[in-house]
Amino acid sequence: MVQNFLKINKKIGSFKKKILVDGDKSLSIRWALLSSQGVGQSIAKNILKSEDLINTLNCLKKLGVKIKLKKNICKIEGVGINGFAYKKKIVLNAGNSGTLGRLILPLLIRSPYKIKIIGDKSLSRRDFSRVIEPLKKIGANFYPNKKKTLPIYIKGSDFLRPIYYEEKKGSAQCKSCIMLASINTPGQISIKAKKSRDHTERMFKELKIPIEIKKDRNLDFIKVSKPKLIKNFNFNIPGDISSSAFFIVLTLLSKDSSLVLRNININPSRMGVIRILNKMGAKIKIKNKKKQFGEECADIIVKSSKNLKGINCPSNLNSSAIDEFLIIFLAASKAKGISYFKNLSELNEKESPRLKIASKILRMMGVKIIYNNSSIKIYGNPDIVLNKNYIVKNYLKDHRVFMMCAIAALSFGGNWKIFNPESINTSFPSFLNIIKQLGGKTN
Ligand code: S3P
Repeated sequence: MVQNFLKINKKIGSFKKKILVDGDKSLSIRWALLSSQGVGQSIAKNILKSEDLINTLNCLKKLGVKIKLKKNICKIEGVGINGFAYKKKIVLNAGNSGTLGRLILPLLIRSPYKIKIIGDKSLSRRDFSRVIEPLKKIGANFYPNKKKTLPIYIKGSDFLRPIYYEEKKGSAQCKSCIMLASINTPGQISIKAKKSRDHTERMFKELKIPIEIKKDRNLDFIKVSKPKLIKNFNFNIPGDISSSAFFIVLTLLSKDSSLVLRNININPSRMGVIRILNKMGAKIKIKNKKKQFGEECADIIVKSSKNLKGINCPSNLNSSAIDEFLIIFLAASKAKGISYFKNLSELNEKESPRLKIASKILRMMGVKIIYNNSSIKIYGNPDIVLNKNYIVKNYLKDHRVFMMCAIAALSFGGNWKIFNPESINTSFPSFLNIIKQLGGKTN
């Protein structure tokens, strides 16, 4: 039988390297969905070639969109607003991707036929009522009635109306779903949203889709109106900060090492991980800033840190670091003092119940923690060394859980057997190659 686990039983040695990480997932999916609605050909360079992206392209192809993907270059022939080739019995597979599953729905709200949306085991346990309810108010239909999880059917309508929508979770997927509904909805949709990543807002602005944004400290007030058309657009997609975070923390926790991560998206609404690690004493630097299609990119420079200290993490950073907490928890495990992360119930709504799973893994590693459904206290130990056997299985193949464990093994030692290494293909297919590049030994 094919070996379906990765073994790591040696800490990584010191390294001094420059790396490129795979293209940003949120930007790659948004580029594909929005360019499908454009007029003419759009081209993306450095698109993320992961399963989430391939599923996005396959869904669009089933809706009649012509797509070419060669190496990291993707070309999409836009079909224009409401230009999908709807047929009876279309089934769209969102695979593992919450972003795809939730952001494709608003593009289907004029479909004359029912379209079935399915996902893998992990996605099929995640809440879709958070987007179904507001889309119903706009006029879309969902079957079976009251079902909150995939598989579900969506059918559109010719009678759509704009709504006022309050986004209270700090979820960019919910906010973006309703923003994207404006492409098909007459009039103006108003949104009051808790802060979350703002890639959709930036793309709308660059594409001249009518959008007004007012911001106060905790909330964004967004008004979006139906555009007449969407332009085609080319995008050189920067590296993903969420993927970078694993190697940033590996460098911090390794001896005498330094790393330059080139051309990474440093959108402030995604930079929580850098803010949190710097508050813990990490001294991560940003250089060579530039702007591409409304998104800031730069090189990130990080060095080993002997003096990480615990943090009482302010909850207003939660949304901007939501995908990075697993790896931040590892940094906290080696920091001096206690770290406290709170109001994080959303973390249990991800590809796996991440707060729960992370607490199990940290306990297995012998890290003292106090955990409840929405918070975790981590008692850091600057002298942490692992020397036992650690087996990681049954974590719903959550890509970020796998990567967290690989970084724990390379940073702290022990004999690790981590099942389902293929899980990295959802978001960061180059993960194991980069470990090799840095001199890490896995088998
Ligand atoms: C994403 C938003 C976040 C994040 C996910 C990508 C996006 O999810 O966890 O990986 O691209 O909009 P939520 O909106 O559910 O917080």
